[in-house]
Amino acid sequence: MPLATGSEILEAARAGSYGVGAFNTNDMEITQAVLEACESSRSPVLLSLSEGALKYGGKALVDMVLSMGRDASVPVCVHLDHGSSFESCVRCIRMGFTSVMIDKSHEDEETNIAETKRVVEVAHAAGVTVEAEIGRLGGVEEHVVVAEEDAILTKPDEAERFMEQSGADYLAIAIGTSHGANKGKGRPYIDHKRIREIAALLPHPLVMHGASGVPTYLVERLNAAGGQLKDASGIHEDDVREAVKHGIAKINTDTDLRIAFTAAVREVLLEKPKEFDPRKILGPARDLMREVVLERLQVFGSAGKA
Ligand code: 13P
Repeated sequence: MPLATGSEILEAARAGSYGVGAFNTNDMEITQAVLEACESSRSPVLLSLSEGALKYGGKALVDMVLSMGRDASVPVCVHLDHGSSFESCVRCIRMGFTSVMIDKSHEDEETNIAETKRVVEVAHAAGVTVEAEIGRLGGVEEHVVVAEEDAILTKPDEAERFMEQSGADYLAIAIGTSHGANKGKGRPYIDHKRIREIAALLPHPLVMHGASGVPTYLVERLNAAGGQLKDASGIHEDDVREAVKHGIAKINTDTDLRIAFTAAVREVLLEKPKEFDPRKILGPARDLMREVVLERLQVFGSAGKA
């Protein structure tokens, strides 16, 4: 079936109060793991490619992901993650992506609005929907002084102004999460009040970046097989569930699949030193990633929605 746009998948999610996974992919095994998990649980999904992924896999990767997405039996959107420029977004729209993110969150408000608007105009003309971002991703300690928190996290009034003026379709908000496997000491603080306030002002789907759970069992497997992932921490499942209840519709996950992939590959190489068939090394990685995606989909609540 044709690929779905981001809005088609995410507006249904926001209206139905469930979350949809946006999983980063760089290769065949990750893409298969995500799609197999989504098909078996009947979940819609976004397959995200970053500019780093595009550089790594080029047109071959894009063609493969687009084709696998179209062949899936559930709604699939192919999305550009953290597009850094108008040109980068246009390139992906021309290649057949059905959603792009323009990330000018590091610029001032006026520039972010103007640059986002430029992308929205061409994307919408091509039937593609757009994600934008305001605020700075990054962990914050609970109970820091409000002025400090406000300097980093998304301000509700700014979010409302931004969406009205930019015309973007869904918005990534900074609420205390951060990318990677070290999201802060203990259980990272998520500003749920801020999510509720933003969601009360905006009908748009909201996006949570840096949402990986970094499960302890995966980190332990990785380290037991020779990995050295220290001080790992992720977003608690209950925080993801609560965020979804209040308006988060798109949940980005990359790190959890990276850890699963590497843990499984390390285990094979450690346990079977005579093995040199890539399929016997990458196959178990694909299996473990599929299990991890399935666990995530249960938390998001998207199982059975496709
Ligand atoms: P994680 O590093 O938590 O998986 O987040 C990925 C992400 O937000 C990609 O945009």
